[in-house]
Amino acid sequence: MNERVLVTGGTGYIGSHTVVELINSGCETVVVDNLSNSRIEVLDGISSITGTRPAFDKVDVCDLDRLRECCRKHQGIKAVVHFAAFKAVGESVEKPLEYYRNNLISLMNLLLVMREFEIPGLVFSSSCTVYGQPDRLPVTEESLIKPAASPYGNTKQICEEIIRDTIAASPAMKAISLRYFNPVGAHPSAVIGELPSGTPLNLVPYITQTAIGLREHLRVFGNDYDTPDGSGIRDYINVVDLARAHVKAIERLLENRCRQPYEVFNLGTGKGSSVFEIIRTFEEATGERLNWKLYPRRPGDIACVYADASLANRELGWKADTPLDETLRSAWNWEKNIRRTMKR
Ligand code: UFG
Repeated sequence: MNERVLVTGGTGYIGSHTVVELINSGCETVVVDNLSNSRIEVLDGISSITGTRPAFDKVDVCDLDRLRECCRKHQGIKAVVHFAAFKAVGESVEKPLEYYRNNLISLMNLLLVMREFEIPGLVFSSSCTVYGQPDRLPVTEESLIKPAASPYGNTKQICEEIIRDTIAASPAMKAISLRYFNPVGAHPSAVIGELPSGTPLNLVPYITQTAIGLREHLRVFGNDYDTPDGSGIRDYINVVDLARAHVKAIERLLENRCRQPYEVFNLGTGKGSSVFEIIRTFEEATGERLNWKLYPRRPGDIACVYADASLANRELGWKADTPLDETLRSAWNWEKNIRRTMKR
């Protein structure tokens, strides 16, 4: 596939890994990002892995004129992968308006320019958060979409609705929403990975920052859930596996293999792991000992969620198959590498 693909939020965590896989598959990528939560050096990482430096425009997707300018400059874009969004659940509760404004306006701008520039395909970065605490596990795409537990989750639900309605009214356009479970790990080169600004909110970056000595101990949020060891269970998916699913989705769109103009796929491993299992696997995989302490449940957390990813397995011809220990080792290698680099 040697098409031109626009990647919004392409210097971010999942965005950068996806740009690498798109380049590896032969695509020409155009990255836009406002660098509000990522570093320009990520482009060096992408070029050192792939041997290709993607085109880059510092653009906030909420700025319609700049987005238009970018599409004019890079004529012939055939598809968009849209990552650029705010993503912190807790912060969204404090700043709902900022979340609605940023996440909804950027998507609407993008759909407008797709129509204007006749860009036929969209892959949207969605989340399993749209399901809330599902009644039945594993979660299939047919599971009920419940009222979102946070403004962030609500933006993902609303964005999916905006896409569905827009696609229904636009015969020339198709879209795929990918609902991620818990993306973790880093590229095996340790050259790109997750770099949260400030205190990490997610489990794995908190673990690696604790192991390297930036944090005193990991806080385990609750051991009294209705799960075998009492800690929360999630479906942790390797970020490179996840990135590859985007390439499959782009291929499906551009090769006209979609069964519907708008499709939705869960992206997970199908297996849940508890917080204690993650700690144990991290220690075994890296040889590091992790300090942790028990804390009360984190408000808003659910007990257990993992994916039924069989639709994506079947329809996209994709599977998340990197073993968890390898994934956690990759997160650790990245942590060590980025701290070394930042010291210089
Ligand atoms: N956890 C801890 N200590 C921490 C951080 C997390 O014990 O310092 C626990 C949580 O309680 C939970 C598990 O680790 O049981 C995973 O927590 P994360 O914060 O890593 O992930 P979440 O499942 O809460 O949220 C993630 C993304 C969201 C997305 C959601 C969908 O951060 O953007 O998955 O389920 F919406």
